Amino acid sequence: MFDELEQVTSTGVERVRAAATLEELRSVEQELLGKKSPLAAFNQRLGALPTEERKEAGRRVNEARTVVQNAIAERRRSLAADERRQRLQAERLDLTEVIPAPGRGHLHLTTQTRDELEDVFIGMGYQVAEGPEAEDDWHNFEALNMPPAHPARSMWDTFYLDLGEPETVLLRTHTSPVQVRVMQSQAPPIYIVAPGRVYRYETPDPRHLAVFHQIEGLVVDKGISFADLAGTIETFTNAYFGPGTHSRLRPSYFPFTEPSAEFEVTCIFCHGDGCRVCSQTGWIELGGCGMVHPNVLKAGGIDPEEWTGFAFGFGIDRLAQIRHQVDDERDFLVNDIRFLSQF
Ligand code: PHE
Repeated sequence: MFDELEQVTSTGVERVRAAATLEELRSVEQELLGKKSPLAAFNQRLGALPTEERKEAGRRVNEARTVVQNAIAERRRSLAADERRQRLQAERLDLTEVIPAPGRGHLHLTTQTRDELEDVFIGMGYQVAEGPEAEDDWHNFEALNMPPAHPARSMWDTFYLDLGEPETVLLRTHTSPVQVRVMQSQAPPIYIVAPGRVYRYETPDPRHLAVFHQIEGLVVDKGISFADLAGTIETFTNAYFGPGTHSRLRPSYFPFTEPSAEFEVTCIFCHGDGCRVCSQTGWIELGGCGMVHPNVLKAGGIDPEEWTGFAFGFGIDRLAQIRHQVDDERDFLVNDIRFLSQF
């Protein structure tokens, strides 16, 4: 019987060690230690033995059971460790992995253009300012010398927001409200540019978007004259478009500047000779500018007897469109990789 017991024990231990998974080990355990196992059968056979032999035999059967149990516990530990290792390996994420194709992305053409413009003005000693896109009527119109119902308000088709009293909060129609915010928050001398997104209630077409970008400039200092404005625009034109390009001003009207002007730059394609892009004029119109109206200085808390200033504003997307000869400005918004990857 003892030989038989030894045999059962050693094959049992072998089977335990051969179990390849925790699942398999569980069924081997059932077979080796369960009610129908050979070891259980030995226990039943003990009853038939004489008393003095039964004690020794009982001890040996218990010993055999312990050996098998220990083997199972050991195998279970090692299988569990293996399975854990495999799971960690499978779930591992390599956060440093480089995915080659389809190539790195890059900044949108509008953002690149804005960055370049900021660089040019920072080089001229300006600082960059920002204002909110959801603006109040006062900053967008009233403080810019357009009281309620002023006819010039119709120059900007406006999206109003459903907030507070009707027509008190809107999506800013230009970056000019940032002029007022800057004047309110800092004392002159002021030299800032304010780039940002603006909104117009318009049907998009190849030269107009309902959501586009402008960059505003504002200078307030002692003794600033129209000549400073003209000189600044000329300097900017040369720095941005390169030497040999020039600017010119033509009389215009804005309620917040007096006198006001449109500024034009030499056509960068024909250099003034006349071509399709500039409608044979040799000039491309970029934006508006003028001397800051005394009422606007007052709205900003600045004494117009002591300080004077100029302001200008133009479209960033429009500038990029001209420079890269983009036929349809709506392409800027479509997110078509074939368009975006060209710039
Ligand atoms: N805000 C004007 C526009 O949107 C442009 C402008 C800015 C004109 C500053 C004069 C001075 O058309």
